Amino acid sequence: MSTTTGPLLAARDLVKSHGRTDALRGASAELHAGEILAVTGPSGSGKSTLLHCMAGIVRPDGGSVHYEGLRLDICTEDRLSELRRTDFGVVFQFGRLIPELTLTDNVALPLMLAGTSRREARARAGEWLGRFGVGHRGDARPGELSGGQAQRGALARALVTGPRVVFADEPTGALDSLAGEQVMAELVSAARASGAAVLLITHDAQVAAYADREIRLADGRAAAMEGAI
Ligand SMILES: Nc1ncnc2c1ncn2[C@@H]1O[C@H](COP(=O)(O)OP(=O)(O)O)[C@@H](O)[C@H]1O
Ligand SMILES: [Mg+2]
Repeated sequence: MSTTTGPLLAARDLVKSHGRTDALRGASAELHAGEILAVTGPSGSGKSTLLHCMAGIVRPDGGSVHYEGLRLDICTEDRLSELRRTDFGVVFQFGRLIPELTLTDNVALPLMLAGTSRREARARAGEWLGRFGVGHRGDARPGELSGGQAQRGALARALVTGPRVVFADEPTGALDSLAGEQVMAELVSAARASGAAVLLITHDAQVAAYADREIRLADGRAAAMEGAI
C-alpha cells in the first residue's frame, strides 16, 4: 500500500482548446488511491478532454497534471507510453478495439506488450472476458461484436494488466440499464479487489451512484455539487 497522503492523480486549472473550441477552462480534479470518482456533466462539457489530459493522452495547453511526483503534462512521450502500459488502463468512449485482432488477442495485447508470453496472456484475457460476460466471444473480431460486447471487451482490456488507475469514459454507454449495472458491479469489484482508483465518466446517475465521490463539469470547469452523494 502507498503511504502517500496526497492525491494519486491531480489535475489543476487545466485549459485545453480544440481549434476554436475551449473544451477546458480551468478544470481541476483529484483522484485518491483506490477511490472511484465519477465525473458527470452535460455533453460537450469537457469530460472526455479532462480524462484524456489526466491519462496523459492529450497535453493540456495550461495547468498541470501530477501523478504522484511526476508532471504528466510535461513529461516525455516515452515515459507516458510506459506509464500507460504499466500503471494506467483506459476505456475509450467508443471502445477502440483493434479491428484486425480477435477479442481475446485485443485483451491479451497489453500483457504481451509488458512481456507476458502469448499463451499466458491469452489465458488471462479469457478469464477477464469471462468476468465481463463475453468469454464466448473471444474468437470474434470487433466488427462482429455488438456495441455492448465491444464495450465489455474494452473494460477487460483496461483491467487485465492490474493498473493502479482505470480511466473509463462512459463505459456503459452502449448497454441497457440492466447490463450496465452488471458491468459496473464487475468494474467496481475488480477495482476494489486490486485497489485500483477509477476515474469514471458517466451521465447516468445510477452509474454515478457506484462512485465514492462525484464532480460535475459545466463549460469546461468543475461546478459545485448540489449536496454530496
Ligand atoms: N478533437 C476535437 N476537435 C474539435 N473539437 C473537439 C474535439 N474534442 C472535443 N471537442 C469539443 O470540445 C468540447 C468538449 O468535448 P468533450 O471533452 O468531448 O466533452 P464531453 O466528453 O463532456 O462530451 C466540445 O465542444 C467538443 O465538441
Ligand atoms: Mg465524452
